[in-house]
Amino acid sequence: MKLLNGKGKYAPGNLLKSVVILLPFTLLIIMLPFSLTINSSFSSPNKVYVSRSSYDFNVTEIKRCNVFSGEWLPYSKGAYYDNETCDLIIDQQNCMKFGRPDREFLKWRWKPDECELPLFDATLFLEIVRGKSMAFVGDSVGRNQMNSLLCLLNPAARPEDISSRYATDPIYFRRWFYADYNFTVVTLWSPFLVRSSDVHSSLTNLYLDKADESWSGEVKNFDFVIISAGQWFFRPALFYEKGQVVGCHKCEQSNTTELSHYYGYRKAFRTALRTIVNMKGYKGVTFLRTFSPAHFENAEWNKGGSCERRKPYRKEEMKFDGYIFETYKVQVEEFRGARKEGRKRGLKFVMLNTTEMMLRRPDGHPNNHVWGHELKNTHSDCVHWCLPGPIDTWNELLFYKLKTHHKSFISSLQGFV
Ligand SMILES: *[C@@H]1O[C@H](CO)[C@@H](O)[C@H](O)[C@H]1NC(C)=O
Ligand SMILES: *[C@@H]1O[C@H](CO)[C@@H](O)[C@H](O)[C@H]1NC(C)=O
Ligand SMILES: *[C@@H]1O[C@H](CO)[C@@H](O)[C@H](O)[C@H]1NC(C)=O
Ligand SMILES: *[C@@H]1O[C@H](CO)[C@@H](O)[C@H](O)[C@H]1NC(C)=O
Ligand SMILES: *[C@@H]1O[C@H](CO)[C@@H](O)[C@H](O)[C@H]1NC(C)=O
Repeated sequence: MKLLNGKGKYAPGNLLKSVVILLPFTLLIIMLPFSLTINSSFSSPNKVYVSRSSYDFNVTEIKRCNVFSGEWLPYSKGAYYDNETCDLIIDQQNCMKFGRPDREFLKWRWKPDECELPLFDATLFLEIVRGKSMAFVGDSVGRNQMNSLLCLLNPAARPEDISSRYATDPIYFRRWFYADYNFTVVTLWSPFLVRSSDVHSSLTNLYLDKADESWSGEVKNFDFVIISAGQWFFRPALFYEKGQVVGCHKCEQSNTTELSHYYGYRKAFRTALRTIVNMKGYKGVTFLRTFSPAHFENAEWNKGGSCERRKPYRKEEMKFDGYIFETYKVQVEEFRGARKEGRKRGLKFVMLNTTEMMLRRPDGHPNNHVWGHELKNTHSDCVHWCLPGPIDTWNELLFYKLKTHHKSFISSLQGFV
């Protein structure tokens, strides 16, 4: 068993405790894969599962409901972890470390209207993804979700950072490996999903009909691909199709048609999702995590806007409309098209419909509690999400979807079991 930690922060006492706690799990877990291979469905009688009643493998028991429609309710127990119990939080998201004074924002839990959202169970999550691989494709908000997942899994297993085995940038293309579960999770940075150039200049070139190879060349053998994109599309961009300029967003050139960010966003998703549908050899389950709203108030992000709120909006306080709704809608339309095409090939597409629930969490962002804010007087961050924080809910939802679809996932992934 490997208990690895990049920062070497594990106290010997802790290490011993983890070994002692993990040992019985490890023994049990060794037995599980065999039964999995024999019975690819969990509902068939199986001694191992039946005897482990605390691990709810009976998928028919989980009532299917629209978990995305609901509200944030007070929850006194608070978060699953904090900045001391999880040492995998990066400074960009470590709001506590950088002086966020309030804790009330941690004491809310998402309550779907029609059912309960099950608590995250790290061991069960790892059982479900045993021997599999998961890729978060998108921008740094996708990475934000992966970092949340690492912290949620932290009580059950320590990952090894294997980024350096791949000749890629270890920040933007980070790879973690859970040796005890043979589970790999990676983040593939691709803020536009399509090919781009001059990303950091004032006018980015976007090749809307060409998927970005930094992810499209990587995901073929992945079992779970979680795709997302958002804020970068609001920047000025020149749109290319078939190698020609077809228009732009905010380029302010009289000879170029202004097409708005919706055009680029739609085409980028169409290209990305089509690439997945048509990818030879791909057998994975594709998740779309919908647009994550920012919450700048009083001014724009680069003109002193900030996010000071300390609690969620109630449903009636925050309407799901305007550009956030329109952006989300574009993405959902493209997703539906791809899901239909994907079905013909036996591919599964699942939506993590998180936009509206996050719209009601203006309190979940780092604001000015981030590394370097005082030092460099940078802008407030009302785009990313604090860890711990409401973004942990995305992984509860991911866990829920993995569990409810488990049976069909397993049969659709039979080649991998
Ligand atoms: C699963 O749960 C359903 C509903 O509670 C029950 O009818 C069924 O017998 C259970 N199946 C197994 C294998 O335990
Ligand atoms: C996503 O969730 C919101 C909130 O419940 C709902 O209004 C919307 O219809 C859902 N979208 C889809 C495509 O299911
Ligand atoms: C965690 O946050 C507290 C403030 O709540 C801070 O004093 C401490 O240094 C932080 N620890 C780490 C490891 O980030
Ligand atoms: C680990 O998982 C990969 C797939 O992600 C599989 O190819 C490999 O055979 C597995 N290794 C072991 C030792 O089970
Ligand atoms: C549009 O005008 C800009 C200068 O304003 C020029 O650089 C660009 O090449 C022109 N584009 C086309 C498609 O003619």
